[in-house]
Amino acid sequence: MRDFSEQNITEAVIEAFQGAPDPRLRKIMAALIRHLHDFVREVDLTQEEWNFAIDYLTKTGQTCTEKRQEFIMLSDTLGISMLVDAINHRMPTGATETTVLGPFYVHNQPEVPLGFDLGRGLKGEPLYVEGFVSSATGTPLPNAIVDTWQSDAEGYYDVQRSDVSGSGLRGRFRTDTQGRFYFWSIMPTSYPIPEDGPVGEMLRATGRHSYRPAHVHFMIAADDHETLITHIFPEGDAYLDSDSVFAVKKSLVREFTKEPPGAAPDGSRMDRPWRKLTYNFGLKPLAMQRAA
Ligand code: BEZ
Ligand code: FE
Repeated sequence: MRDFSEQNITEAVIEAFQGAPDPRLRKIMAALIRHLHDFVREVDLTQEEWNFAIDYLTKTGQTCTEKRQEFIMLSDTLGISMLVDAINHRMPTGATETTVLGPFYVHNQPEVPLGFDLGRGLKGEPLYVEGFVSSATGTPLPNAIVDTWQSDAEGYYDVQRSDVSGSGLRGRFRTDTQGRFYFWSIMPTSYPIPEDGPVGEMLRATGRHSYRPAHVHFMIAADDHETLITHIFPEGDAYLDSDSVFAVKKSLVREFTKEPPGAAPDGSRMDRPWRKLTYNFGLKPLAMQRAA
């Protein structure tokens, strides 16, 4: 039996994990205990604050459903998702930078032909998106799968709207023989992340806003390359410097140029002004994974 004190309890708890057979688990548990104990000591945590924290985490778990992952959003708004992303995606020159996946990705979207209009029937400024997918070394990647999804002109994803049946503003394309892709959509808008749960409570209590700058999401997969998860942000958005999930990187901000009515690059004729985004994506070869 030992007389545990504020001073010696940390080492005693770490010692209790020393028999863990997996060395990685042993290392993680020791660091976790050290940091959690130091945190409790640093802020002199009160009993009421401990009760609040337990209640907060319980509510966070209870808010999770098959369609909503409040814990991931908590990780996003605390900057942990982007820190893990940064540690795990140290990119070589020529590879596009990564950012968070977010909760609105839908698996197994049907493939649609190049040039398809994802924004058909939706109100918003027409947006033409085009680019190449290549390896970080510069070699074009034909047959790469380009998944894309985004918010509508009012800042909602299709999965958030009960009035939308089927998918909207999302699609899966395959690059052509030169690694090229192009499609039509509408301009995305900035939007608040879901704020009717514990994450929203935390943002309000701390005086933070819940907005994300407008963006178009991309997930790009090609043989022998690491799948790229990223988004592209339009230059000039009001929230680029205060993204609620810290996901903006300078290299992912682009001008979505204003184009006059007339011929578009795919041969279609536009009878009103439209916008154009050109972005060439570089994928990290799997062979570079250990080297980077
Ligand atoms: C999103 O971009 O879709 C997103 C990312 C993180 C949290 C909430 C939304
Ligand atoms: Fe998003």
